[in-house]
Amino acid sequence: MRQSSLVVVANRLPIDDSVAPDGACEWRRSPGGLVSALHPLLRQTPATWVGWAGGTGPAPVLPDVDGVHMRTVPLSADDLRDHYEGFANATLWPLYHDAVEQPEYHRRWWEAYQRVNQRFAEATAEVADPGAVVWVQDYHLQLVPGLLRELRPDLRIGFFLHVPFPPPELFMQLPRRAELLRGMLGADLIGFQRAQAAHNFAQLATKVLGLPATDRRIGVQDRVVRIGAYPVSIDTAEMAALAARPDVTARARRLRHDLGDPERVILSLDRMDYTKGIEQRLKAYSELLASGDVKVRDTVLVQVAMPSRERVGQYQILRDRIEREVGRINGEFGRVGEPAIHYLSQPFDRAELAALYRVADVMAVTPLRDGMNLVAKEYVAARVDDTGALLLSEFAGAAAELDRAYLVNPHDLDGLKQGLLSALRAGPADAGDRMRAMRDHLHRHDIRAWARSYLSALDDTGSLLTRLS
Ligand code: G6P
Repeated sequence: MRQSSLVVVANRLPIDDSVAPDGACEWRRSPGGLVSALHPLLRQTPATWVGWAGGTGPAPVLPDVDGVHMRTVPLSADDLRDHYEGFANATLWPLYHDAVEQPEYHRRWWEAYQRVNQRFAEATAEVADPGAVVWVQDYHLQLVPGLLRELRPDLRIGFFLHVPFPPPELFMQLPRRAELLRGMLGADLIGFQRAQAAHNFAQLATKVLGLPATDRRIGVQDRVVRIGAYPVSIDTAEMAALAARPDVTARARRLRHDLGDPERVILSLDRMDYTKGIEQRLKAYSELLASGDVKVRDTVLVQVAMPSRERVGQYQILRDRIEREVGRINGEFGRVGEPAIHYLSQPFDRAELAALYRVADVMAVTPLRDGMNLVAKEYVAARVDDTGALLLSEFAGAAAELDRAYLVNPHDLDGLKQGLLSALRAGPADAGDRMRAMRDHLHRHDIRAWARSYLSALDDTGSLLTRLS
């Protein structure tokens, strides 16, 4: 069994399968949030990634990807239904996102959550070197730090939550709230996207478990668990380089032409998720079309809603509602050859995404609640000529850093409309100042800076970072 000094544990492995031209199955690094977040770091040290390869049945044996060893954890059909679709995505996900959809509580889901977390902890215990640094990711695996500490007290264990951590009055709904908190407290360092989340967690540690806690430290028996905010970021330089590539620039020009060479292109790019505020945004847009403030002749909206968690009931209902609304708006305001909304529900490769970012004069990112939102950061990174305007929800974690965006409250329809009009009408000098400031910020606070600041706090003896430098 190969052992590693750095082990990342996440529900998903950072790879996708695809079929090569000769018909063979190929595994490639998958794009997207968490995965691209950690990739640059993993290239630099012998590491193992423990995760689920997608699908059900026995775990496939996978090749190393960019030198990173893949340790697959299998999920059965019951695990998929009750752990991933159930407890993770129909209990915790809505609860942690302000309960914008009703969280469901089922005892069977909790049993599956425990079972799957135990399996991840055991797999991790097998591949970690003595004294290794283990970094556990996100809400699917909140029990892993505690379970792993029991199996391997020698490890340095970090936990990072990519989604928001809710205020006590919401978290208190959870039937198994004490166990979840204890699971996270198995870590030496718990990272959150925002300081408010660390504050919520500290309050709950005292309220539910009676532990002494500040917003930085929690006393657990003979240990001190540190907590803090470490806002995740993107590979800014990689996105900027991709967006500046001649083929991407040419593709952006072609896209604008195919869209009818409008004066203004608005882009929204979300996973199809009820936290993303897609319906509120469509409503605001439809009212602007109805009032004549926006005209189909000179402005187009491209709405990309990438399919996500398609077997979860709330996601199916949302998709139906959105597709009906897009149909209504196009039926009412579109003209032959000129739809009001170009709606796409499909995954895109990175180059096509970069071309879309380059073609967008306005990027509308208006979630009702979001841990960070890396799409907002990618858009800014892709605007290599410092043009364009970002319309951003105050309720995205990214708003704390990208405060030169046009910030809006997505629940306030008039405010949303006003914000969109301001972004559409932004003068080039003001827009340039804003974009430059945000791009500078992202070049200084990129994914490497994030990983380095988290891992140097976790690994305070410095052994891993010496190897990383
Ligand atoms: C969010 C979560 C990630 C998750 C991603 C995609 O960003 O924080 O942990 O991987 O959504 O969702 P999926 O259910 O497809 O993994």
